[in-house]
Amino acid sequence: MRSKIVAGNWKMNKTLAETEALLTELSAKLPDTQAEVMVAPTYINLTAAVRHLASSSIEVIAQNMHFAESGAYTGEISADMLLSVGIDTAIIGHSERRAYFGETDEILAKKVVTALEKNMRVMFCFGEELEDRKSGNHFSVVESQLKNALFSLDASSWSKIILAYEPVWAIGTGETASPEQAQEMHAFIRKTITEAYDTGIANKVSILYGGSVKPANAVEIFSKPDVDGGLIGGAALVADDFVAIIKAI
Ligand code: 13P
Repeated sequence: MRSKIVAGNWKMNKTLAETEALLTELSAKLPDTQAEVMVAPTYINLTAAVRHLASSSIEVIAQNMHFAESGAYTGEISADMLLSVGIDTAIIGHSERRAYFGETDEILAKKVVTALEKNMRVMFCFGEELEDRKSGNHFSVVESQLKNALFSLDASSWSKIILAYEPVWAIGTGETASPEQAQEMHAFIRKTITEAYDTGIANKVSILYGGSVKPANAVEIFSKPDVDGGLIGGAALVADDFVAIIKAI
């Protein structure tokens, strides 16, 4: 059985006070669920979030991390720093990191290796841009993103990988991939992993969909057989919406 996961990527939102207020509300309203529920506040509030959720089943994860062990990388955060405050999962490869901060497949591959060496879990994000979809290249773009960053890993590393397919054209735009488009791509991703490894690994890895998931569309998207949950941006910033999406899984 694959893990079902609903994760909130808070991006660059919420002050400390707002972070604590949202976590208090989320904890109070959290429904009974088999799914893993995760939140990714901004770095500066991770310690507070971990403390705040000490007795909660909600897990705190990081939005990013650097590939180097330590050193002269002004403004960056290492795996050991995350581990030292109780974080053992990092989002890597978000399209905003790729687009605005120059993170290439090569850099992302290094980040993944470092995280796994540190025994962390990786939530690896990838997805095509609008032009790729319009030109029919979306499958080949996704395949190369996976291949370049992940397919050199040992089979055993895959137990630490969560995938998040986020078509760039659906992020923050209000336009979602249709449930059929999400299912089609998730099935393709599983087929690609089967070819690179085997069906055991492909069938075990959780593949989340991200891109304008809202309470109104979550049930339909999550009902697809290869969609194992969601990575939620805007709707994760509103407790009632995030809770509704957790209920949808
Ligand atoms: P939205 O849900 O705001 O479209 O963001 C999705 C996302 O980028 C999550 O990482």
